[in-house]
Amino acid sequence: MTTKPYIRLITAFLVFSINPFVLPAKSRAESIDHRSINSKVGSLLSKMTLEEKVGQMTQLTIQAVSDTSGPDAGKLDLRKLKDAIVRYHVGSLLNVYDSSLSVGAWDTLITTIQNVATKETRLKIPILYGIDATHGAIYAKDATLFPQPLNMASTFNTDLAKKEGEITALEVRACGIPWIFFPVMDVGRQPLWSRLYETYGEDPYLASQMGTSFIEGAQGNNIGAPDKVATCLKHYVGYSFPLDGEDRTPAWIPRRMMKQIFLPSFQAGVNAGAPTVMCNSSEVNGIPGDANYYLLTHVLRNRMKFRGFVVSDWGDIENLYTRFKVASSQEDAVRMAVMSGVDMSMVPMDYSFYNLLIKLVKDGKVPMWRINQAVTRILRVKFELGLFKDAYPDAELRKQFASPSSNKTNLEAAEESITLVKNEANLLPLSKNAKVLVSGPTADRLSTMNGGWTITWQGNVESLYPKDKMNPLQAIEAKIGKRNVTYLPGCTYDSLLDVDTIAHVAKNVDAIILCLGERTYAETPGNINDLTLPTAQLKLAETAIATGKPVVLVMFEGRPRIIDKIVRGSRAILIGFLPGMDGGEALANILFGDANPSGRLPVTYPRYVNALYHYDYTNQEVTGGDVYDPQWTFGYGLSYTKFEYSDLRLSSQEISKGENLIASVNVTNSGKIPGQDAILLYLGEEYRQVTHPVKQLEAFQKIVLQPRQTKEVRFVITPEQMSFIGLNNRRTIQPGTFKVTVGSLSRKFVLTGSN
Ligand code: BGC
Repeated sequence: MTTKPYIRLITAFLVFSINPFVLPAKSRAESIDHRSINSKVGSLLSKMTLEEKVGQMTQLTIQAVSDTSGPDAGKLDLRKLKDAIVRYHVGSLLNVYDSSLSVGAWDTLITTIQNVATKETRLKIPILYGIDATHGAIYAKDATLFPQPLNMASTFNTDLAKKEGEITALEVRACGIPWIFFPVMDVGRQPLWSRLYETYGEDPYLASQMGTSFIEGAQGNNIGAPDKVATCLKHYVGYSFPLDGEDRTPAWIPRRMMKQIFLPSFQAGVNAGAPTVMCNSSEVNGIPGDANYYLLTHVLRNRMKFRGFVVSDWGDIENLYTRFKVASSQEDAVRMAVMSGVDMSMVPMDYSFYNLLIKLVKDGKVPMWRINQAVTRILRVKFELGLFKDAYPDAELRKQFASPSSNKTNLEAAEESITLVKNEANLLPLSKNAKVLVSGPTADRLSTMNGGWTITWQGNVESLYPKDKMNPLQAIEAKIGKRNVTYLPGCTYDSLLDVDTIAHVAKNVDAIILCLGERTYAETPGNINDLTLPTAQLKLAETAIATGKPVVLVMFEGRPRIIDKIVRGSRAILIGFLPGMDGGEALANILFGDANPSGRLPVTYPRYVNALYHYDYTNQEVTGGDVYDPQWTFGYGLSYTKFEYSDLRLSSQEISKGENLIASVNVTNSGKIPGQDAILLYLGEEYRQVTHPVKQLEAFQKIVLQPRQTKEVRFVITPEQMSFIGLNNRRTIQPGTFKVTVGSLSRKFVLTGSN
């Protein structure tokens, strides 16, 4: 990770206040003795010098303590390391020099680092090493690399999110790393955004459920357990809604929307016990994430009751001066961020933050209480993680690294995440005797199924990918035999190759499998100006369709690229998004009937560039001639079997404010093969004091059904789920008539009480 994204400059400055709805905090770790930790932190803090304290607030990238040129480039430079830890008292390091390391190499690296920290410093405070873990232990060679979060959301399977958390934690800890920068709790409401795939989709409830399940798996009830890690909620808050769709560009989010859509998933993560939060690297309402006192202190601390520490994103404190221009000097930037509520600076290359913060304290511009507060929060996490007892990698965990059972879970996740959105005349599954032509730029790569944050930051170095994993083409060949598969690249992402030969080659096949989509990217390098799939790929598809052979379209992409032109002509369509390292095998299993698809779209798939809807549109969006007409709506997804919903019933036709309601529905598999179904329950209220979604996801459950089997599914709808952010910008419940919808069934109930 050498370069970092540019951020547009801002000039506007608007202050607004937020008063979010606070849910009660869940107790996070029975087995953590908070009282004893508090007293240990207090006693350690009392021994620390100002320099030692500010060092704890400083985080450097591993590049800053490595050789950067010559034959040893990338190797840890012991002199620089000692300088950082012994002389500057640096308390935290992050990431990798360039690409992933073997677990053994991690072991050596972390051991060297902790040796310096715990043996050569006065107070022996261990280093808190942090790493990105967007879809597994992404910087550990041969780790179990899951579908990206957008895909995990497509599974609508919280058990899988929890298992991903468990496996990721184990594999990251096996490297000796106790802290991950995940889950991304940003709600993905901007389909153009290059980081959409890092989110759990467009719905706050779905994001909250998937994110908290991940945290539960990763942290258990004690982050100090040898196979658990501390999670980090990012990027607090509003980063995911850039107005112009480009990464790190301004978001304007009014208070009601902030509280209704963007804060709840972070609140859920805080309630689930995430002990760290990373700042929004961009700006909301004219205020950069690291300078937003309201959001970082008033809202996050006072309202949401977050007790852990806040880390800046990459270089963002300096950016307050250099990019955002809200601070008039680098020193002012440090003061602004620290006094807004940032506890640790991801500096990440030098000692500017360290030097300036010490100066600010000495000059009386940052009070000592604020330093003590930040350091207390950081040390508490180090104690909770058990680092003072043992800061070293656990060799035992290595035996379970990338185990066959983790791999099996990963394959299941990939299969459940690939979403079937069209299957005309049951073209799929194809017969294993079929002869197929495979074409398209994402057919012969692992990288395009994994996306950014895979082995390297951009994830695009195909040669570094594991040799034992199958890309789509290899997986199809393995499934039906090489002799039944013809491969033609067709085009690159944006230019034509051998398109003209398709008609000729297609004569001898039964079907054409077209793997289209996006090149691999992360963050700002993934910015685009047009959501439409590049012309070359559309042309390839049109040429394939014109052959008259049935075309199966498979999309591997980090965001929903517009494909309206080729939807009608394609007989079957699978939205693969980024299904991870086992995506090829999962795809082949689905194409040829060894797996039954059960994914549902976690975002609305747009049909037109100028119609970027969300599923939770308001009444006025669908009256007066306007239509909600996306390509496929949020929650859409088909199966090879048929599920029928019947007998939707409510525990009562009338309830009073504060009461729960129970909704039940019978689900029957009336097809011929077993299948899984995610049952989605939506709620809508007839009238509200502010405009409101016609329907909103309030519950879901995924079940397995054998042919002819029926199961009753029960949902509890709580008062919170009947609430909304009202006229006064506070969470409100308004008595009235509600509609519960499951599939095509709906029932009404009345909520009584006074306003
Ligand atoms: C990203 C974060 C990431 C950090 C460390 C930043 O550029 O925005 O999501 O955790 O880098 O790699």
